[in-house]
Amino acid sequence: MENKKELRYLSGVQPSGDLHLGNYFGAIKQHVENQHGDNSLYFIANYHSLTTINDPDKLRQLTFDVALTYLSCGLDPNKSILFKQSDVPELTVLTWLLMNVTPISMLEKAVSYKDKITKGLSANVGLFNYPILMASDILAYDSNIVPVGKDQIQHIEMTRDIAQKFNNQFGEVFIVPDYKLSKSPYVPGIDGEKMSKSYGNSIGIFDEGKELKKKVMSIVTSSEPLEAPKDPEKCNVFALYKLMVSPEKISEMEENYRKGGYGFGHAKKELLLEIENYFAPYREKRKELLKNPDYVKDVLNECGKKAKAIAENTLNRALTAVGIN
Ligand code: ADP
Ligand code: TRP
Repeated sequence: MENKKELRYLSGVQPSGDLHLGNYFGAIKQHVENQHGDNSLYFIANYHSLTTINDPDKLRQLTFDVALTYLSCGLDPNKSILFKQSDVPELTVLTWLLMNVTPISMLEKAVSYKDKITKGLSANVGLFNYPILMASDILAYDSNIVPVGKDQIQHIEMTRDIAQKFNNQFGEVFIVPDYKLSKSPYVPGIDGEKMSKSYGNSIGIFDEGKELKKKVMSIVTSSEPLEAPKDPEKCNVFALYKLMVSPEKISEMEENYRKGGYGFGHAKKELLLEIENYFAPYREKRKELLKNPDYVKDVLNECGKKAKAIAENTLNRALTAVGIN
């Protein structure tokens, strides 16, 4: 029989706002598809969110909501480890060790930090060091594969650099990880820009009814008349539609666009229906889980212990390597 060691998957999502279709198709969906027991770890990056959120009740609420979202969307705590980043305080010690092999010039190139500085805003050290904490997240669990959206590639490349620098200096302590892009690494928002919690352009995973309809109907499209043949590849409605339907339905809508006499209003109605159907079971599961919030908290606590045990081991290796154990 095969004696190959199974690869370990790890990824995290910040609890910084309501999760949306970009988070689902860009991240959560593939996390749910990659569940291999102790070799799949998914966590809620609440330490990272401190770089943007300073309301403690809000942070607690959003942290719970991310767990609820994962469980509603099919993450099975018997098949994956779903935990809170803060249940593993070893990460902060590891971050300190990694800081000592990380060049300032590398962090100065980080997009989120650079953006802030370019806009004339002052950044704090938390934001500056964000990529090192993220490297700790990944390295602490001996992760091989980090499934993420496109916007996170730079962070994984930095993690690889940091791991290699540490290994070169202190011996082979860390596994150097790779990223894996989802099939939908870029999901547009209702304004056509990248869908993001912070751009006010998102459609929430659990949106329904009037709110959902309003958002779908306001998706930005070109102003071609109803009769005109249209290019589906240039349309935000089509980009969202094709995320959740069969290849047959995709071809059908493509044809409708190209032959003309098919308006964006038609396409939006079809999209609305598909979003409602696709997420209906997840909305139901969420309502069910909400009746028993202690279950969600128990899952986090139990999984937190498992994650902590793995990280303790790695941290010990790293401490020994630098001469602190
Ligand atoms: P946001 O931009 O809304 O704050 P995050 O940065 O918290 O989202 O991203 C969480 C995960 O979801 C990451 O893996 C990220 O790559 C993915 N993701 C976020 N927005 C999108 C999008 N519009 N398209 C594809 N993936 C996305
Ligand atoms: N920076 C990621 C985001 O904003 C969240 C994150 C933190 C993460 N630590 C991670 C993702 C480790 C993958 C692996 O989406």
